[in-house]
Amino acid sequence: GHHVSSQRVRIRRRELRRRSNIDNFSSSFLHIFKSLVPSEDEITKQEQLLFSLKKLVNKEWPDAELHLYGSCANSFGVSNSDIDICLAIKDYEISKLDILLKLADILESSNLLNVQALTRARVPIVKMMDPVTGISCDICINNLLAVVNTKLLKDYAQIDERLRQLAFIVKHWAKSRRVNETYQGTLSSYAYVLMCIHFLQTRDPAILPCLQGMEVTHKVIVDDTECAYFDSVEKLCNFGVRNKESIAQLIWAFFHYWAYCHDYTNNVISVRTGSIISKQAKDWTRRIGNDRHLICIEDPFEVSHDLGRVVDKFSINILREEFERAANILQYDPNPTVTLFEPY
Ligand code: CTP
Ligand code: MG
Repeated sequence: GHHVSSQRVRIRRRELRRRSNIDNFSSSFLHIFKSLVPSEDEITKQEQLLFSLKKLVNKEWPDAELHLYGSCANSFGVSNSDIDICLAIKDYEISKLDILLKLADILESSNLLNVQALTRARVPIVKMMDPVTGISCDICINNLLAVVNTKLLKDYAQIDERLRQLAFIVKHWAKSRRVNETYQGTLSSYAYVLMCIHFLQTRDPAILPCLQGMEVTHKVIVDDTECAYFDSVEKLCNFGVRNKESIAQLIWAFFHYWAYCHDYTNNVISVRTGSIISKQAKDWTRRIGNDRHLICIEDPFEVSHDLGRVVDKFSINILREEFERAANILQYDPNPTVTLFEPY
């Protein structure tokens, strides 16, 4: 009642006080965005590498498939990133671990460099570097949920170009400010992209729809989890046109939201529903084991998975201070397109 409405008033006042010339920075942000997008040449090299790896893998496992996932396939990849590959093997006789070790052997005896099997990681992978293309890559086994969520992100990116622009800027900021390090208790790139999608779903008028709330045109079942949504996104290319917000305005509003408007105590952001849901409803109100739920971002398919669970009581403050720093720079700094990305 009263509390909510006074909070609204405060938010409105802040919005009124925002600088009137924020739109002037759109062309600089777009310039930065374009400088981060990978070149055609780089994409060709990635495909080349995938093709030669497929040949190697199929010699050992004729029915196995290789899928690109993560930033090299979800359209949120900046240039010169490592690539993520998933080896999909059906009905395997040997254990995942043995597949991983066998794969490391195969790669080692070809011309690949720095082959390393990380068998004890949360997601076990083989790492290696291809001397022909200079590309480094991580290969995991049967992580098909990641392949499906990669497609979901890619599909969202095709609806309104402002999503990719915003997410590239946010990822670039997060890397510059060192808040994109899950082993240090800050957020993954995947979490930041979900935050951007959710933010654009909840603009008024909305810039993105909620694909999981629409007619199902794509459905797969992965590890007992049903992944279903509307994927004919070419029909949605006019979805966001009623919203005229510029990229600079959206960047400002994104950081402003996470600095001053998000209710960290009670709320979960959910791309699956395109809305805010309560921690109470998910039973994410207390710490269980190492999961603290200090900032809650629901995975769109693995709904019991909070992408904020890596955040601890120290790193939550670091994150929130960085959101505030970014919001204040966008509001007051004479040179926000430089200051925002100053190395930490
Ligand atoms: N992923 C996931 N669950 C997580 C983290 C990651 O399913 N908690 C999957 C997602 O499919 C994601 C991929 O792993 O796209 C790679 O994750 P990440 O490295 O965070 O994102 P990238 O998009 O590859 O970003 P970067 O450019 O920083 O490598
Ligand atoms: Mg990656």
